[in-house]
Amino acid sequence: MSELSVEHLLGIKYLKPNDIDVIFKTADHFKEVINRPIKKVPSLRDITIANLFFENSTRTKLSFELAEKRLSADVINFSANQSSVKKGETLIDTVNNILAMKVDIVVMRHGNVGAGVFLSKHVNAKIINAGDGTHEHPTQALLDSYSIREKLGTVKGKRIVIIGDVLHSRVALSNIFALQLQGAEVKVCGPTTLIPKYISSLGVQVETNLKKALEWCDVANVLRVQHERMDIKYFPSTREYTQLFGINQEILDSLGKKIVIMHPGPINRGVEISSDVADSNDSIILNQVENGVAVRMAVIYLLAQQIKR
Ligand code: NCD
Repeated sequence: MSELSVEHLLGIKYLKPNDIDVIFKTADHFKEVINRPIKKVPSLRDITIANLFFENSTRTKLSFELAEKRLSADVINFSANQSSVKKGETLIDTVNNILAMKVDIVVMRHGNVGAGVFLSKHVNAKIINAGDGTHEHPTQALLDSYSIREKLGTVKGKRIVIIGDVLHSRVALSNIFALQLQGAEVKVCGPTTLIPKYISSLGVQVETNLKKALEWCDVANVLRVQHERMDIKYFPSTREYTQLFGINQEILDSLGKKIVIMHPGPINRGVEISSDVADSNDSIILNQVENGVAVRMAVIYLLAQQIKR
């Protein structure tokens, strides 16, 4: 099957293993395209896409916009802090006004869990979730798995540890779903206050000792401490967090094996990851960013094929 089983990309939990295969095969093609001298294809010349960002973003927003432009779609951008949302407009009204301008696909980042699902039930457009609160960030998980597949040949059977602020991370949840769907083993590691209680119900083990977690894994995906989502203190001090859960060259050297280092960005250098590790040959952080464009092109292209033109 070369088609997606879903009408929108709202979360990894709605996907089947074949969807991931289809997205990756399509992304392989687009990765080749974006490395050509002319990095553009005319595929979506008749499609209009709105990028609605109700939360801050650098990488994800630029990556989606570039992916859309590489496919030759028409693109409009919207940031909540410069919009009429501040004047009291509802989400559905904002989006329906944008759709009245004949938009086919909406890419949305929103602070509320389930915002994408809600929108998909109320408006007539394809919805791509670019992050809904602490819930899911499906394109990030897809590009993360794609990058593991590129580096290690396959995701199946690999051991991945997700380290840090799992509680507030939509990247973690989407990665857990995506990795398990592809037959990888997943553990999480971090302060117990930053590990959600429900994690074991997802078949994910918790390892609170960083050294043991790193000895076990093939890949470490390091998360940022998301202070902006914290209303209370979850650990005593940043210095203590770094001592217990920070990835540095010394701990990696002590493992006696190489592991792959990933981070979704933005990095807090010297907190969850040291600069030398982030910039080392074991780190695939910038490959993740490059692959993000190809994977997003694939998702947008595949959803656009379902639109009757
Ligand atoms: C992440 C996000 O916004 O969820 N970043 C991203 O999309 N690349 C993670 C983070 O903000 O730490």
